[in-house]
Amino acid sequence: MLNIDWKELGFNYIKTDYRYISYWKDGKWSEGKLVKDNMLTISEASPALHYGQQCFEGLKAYRTKEGKIQLFRADANAKRMMATCDRLLMPTVPIDMFLDAAKKVVKANEEYVPPYGTGATLYLRPFVIGVGDNIGVKPATEYIFSIFCMPVGPYFKGGMTPVNFCVSDYDRAAPKGTGGVKVGGNYAGSLLPHAEAAKRGFADCIYLDPATHKKIEEVGSANFFGITKDDKFVTPVSPSILPSITKYSLLYLAEHYLHMPVEQRDVYIDKIDEFKEAGACGTAAVISPIGGIEYEDKLHVFYSEKEVGPITKKLYDTLIGIQFGDVKAPEGWIFEVE
Ligand SMILES: Cc1ncc(COP(=O)(O)O)c(C=O)c1O
Repeated sequence: MLNIDWKELGFNYIKTDYRYISYWKDGKWSEGKLVKDNMLTISEASPALHYGQQCFEGLKAYRTKEGKIQLFRADANAKRMMATCDRLLMPTVPIDMFLDAAKKVVKANEEYVPPYGTGATLYLRPFVIGVGDNIGVKPATEYIFSIFCMPVGPYFKGGMTPVNFCVSDYDRAAPKGTGGVKVGGNYAGSLLPHAEAAKRGFADCIYLDPATHKKIEEVGSANFFGITKDDKFVTPVSPSILPSITKYSLLYLAEHYLHMPVEQRDVYIDKIDEFKEAGACGTAAVISPIGGIEYEDKLHVFYSEKEVGPITKKLYDTLIGIQFGDVKAPEGWIFEVE
């Protein structure tokens, strides 16, 4: 029996029993294996270490009331990882291989999938890294694809609480750079803006579009959405925004479950008073309600700095209901781990 206090879990590395690993060599992936060792031995000349030829994903497995285990939209993570690999000239991991690896890792670490009702989940971290002896700036000839996992706590322990964000002067991505894919370099570049925002008491910062600095792109490492005063669900579009699976899920739920008009369009930072509620969405928190955004020395408060707005709450409840199996999911969103 594991000695884990599920209710006290945060988002911290915990070594679980097994991880999946496959090697790309001579133009193909090796048969993936589950291994106990959590250490990788790679060449000091690996392109992942020097030139950032690497990428990752993040998704979760959920325990339902009946005790089943399910992955949420894991095929979407597989597709996004393929897009990232293509952008970095890395070999893609086929969707079926990704899904098989994810299911195998969850099954092998079944004991670590937190019980229903704790709000905790099993977080999966797939990644691909370019390895091998390769000191020039060119794609690696060998790669590792791996998935490890760990139990993580619910993002909000005492119920959803809004958080405030400031607008960053830094850019997260270049207009035609790598903002739309999940490469580690994007996150290395975000550490300083995040630290500066945190030092000023904000949860994180908002990144504007790198070309004009007028439109909202991302909220820390999450996508933005707003609810207009006439009840439309609005979310920005741009090639330098990472396409959030949570965001696309909320768009669908807003339209088909809450019957709201939805719009994907530019969101101007100087027009944020068009929204009565706003949120940051991503796998980690599902939704972080945005209390306010500081822009040009003024804090614009949406619904409240203390309470979550009713539409944001409804979207959140619907999505986590689907993830934990309490609400009927749209076709194809759930992958059961048997
Ligand atoms: C930069 C960035 N934006 C948005 C998201 C949210 O994406 P998802 O909903 O797929 O977790 C993430 C997390 O993966 C992210 O790192």
